[in-house]
Amino acid sequence: PAPESLISPLRLSSVRGIMGHLFFCLLLWFCLTVTVLVLPSPSSLSPGEPGSMTVTWTTWVPARSEVQFGMQLSGPLPLRAQGILTTFVDGGTLRRRLYIHRVTLRKLLPGVQYVYRCGSAQGWSRRFRFRAFKNGVHWSPRLAVFGDMGADNAKALPRLRRDTQQGMYDAILHVGDFAYNMDQDNARVGDRFMQLIEPVAANLPYMTCPGNHEQRYNFSNYKARFSMPGDNEGLWYSWDLGPAHIISFSTEVYFFLRYGRHLVHKQFHWLESDLQKANKNRAARPWIITMGHRPMYCSNADLDDCTKYESKVRRGLGGKYGLEDLFYKHGVDLELWAHEHSYERLWPIYNYQVLNGSFQQPYTHPRGPVHIITGSAGCEERLTPFVIRPRPWSAVRVKEYGYTRMHILNGTHLHIQQVSDDQDGKIVDDFWLVRPLHSRMMYL
Ligand SMILES: [Fe+2]
Repeated sequence: PAPESLISPLRLSSVRGIMGHLFFCLLLWFCLTVTVLVLPSPSSLSPGEPGSMTVTWTTWVPARSEVQFGMQLSGPLPLRAQGILTTFVDGGTLRRRLYIHRVTLRKLLPGVQYVYRCGSAQGWSRRFRFRAFKNGVHWSPRLAVFGDMGADNAKALPRLRRDTQQGMYDAILHVGDFAYNMDQDNARVGDRFMQLIEPVAANLPYMTCPGNHEQRYNFSNYKARFSMPGDNEGLWYSWDLGPAHIISFSTEVYFFLRYGRHLVHKQFHWLESDLQKANKNRAARPWIITMGHRPMYCSNADLDDCTKYESKVRRGLGGKYGLEDLFYKHGVDLELWAHEHSYERLWPIYNYQVLNGSFQQPYTHPRGPVHIITGSAGCEERLTPFVIRPRPWSAVRVKEYGYTRMHILNGTHLHIQQVSDDQDGKIVDDFWLVRPLHSRMMYL
């Protein structure tokens, strides 16, 4: 038989707990998350700083939370880490209880591949692998980026699993809207979705932001299922990856005011302060990339916020807390969005003005941020059509299922490709974003 570590991660993990209670059959699943260099301040980004990775999984009965890990592909796993168990009570009629386990592995060696399994004496998962992030800023992270992937019709998932098995990525960015919806059927749709993404999410950092489909019970299913950096239950946070500083936030605070109007204010001020810190560290990490679910601009044929001239995300509420001015003022390079079930690339833009670097090379030394809307990973709502006439600020529109590949080559060059699942993996958009090392803080 194949060694345990070589068993295909395409199979769902099932663990039969035979210790103690024979009638308990535990099914474990995992979302491996986050992040090597937590940045309390720019000065802490020393290359020798130890890495960490948090493993998150769910059981349906209470159990201890332990991860066993090591560097050998087969054989015993010599290292151990204990974690925290929390009980999550879903808001549905059954008030289902899920037991959420979070274990952080620390002092990981940069760039080294680890093998792990998680569980307890009541039952263990099969083994998964991940690579700890490299240290420092001088390496070239590769990511897959998409939003709006459901438990049904997840068109991009088979190729994402293959890409993951082949080691194509360092991390995943899922830009909101999961499962459709995680809370449905007393959170069983969430169970099923986590099982579906496990072959990707247990082997790669799976970085998220909340979308409108997570809003039930004050985003509680989202907060329970994922473990993001920071202390705000994954609603907003930032992290560093090679030459990039990546900021994740909630556009939903502008729309679900019943969960607290103060969140708009709180997040806005956090964003402002995080952008200031990132700019102090800009020479080391030149790229500032944001991800949020609902776009500021889009040319889709629906009535969403982004189709409105004064979209809430762009202009804020009552003229306050608009994100376009904030991001422009702090020289954000790239803004990743989803929500519209299509792919759209904008020309560099500020306040509806196209600010291309030059006619021949629009994305070389652009004079405003670049927006990508990538929400076509596939869900039961299918694709969103575009208005017939493209807007003057819209560069490329693709109404096909797919996802985005992002390669942050170095501090000046970033490569974006759009993969079409309708065309068997064909690259349907491809461009380089090039910005100089200096003068990144402000667009002039
Ligand atoms: Fe959405």
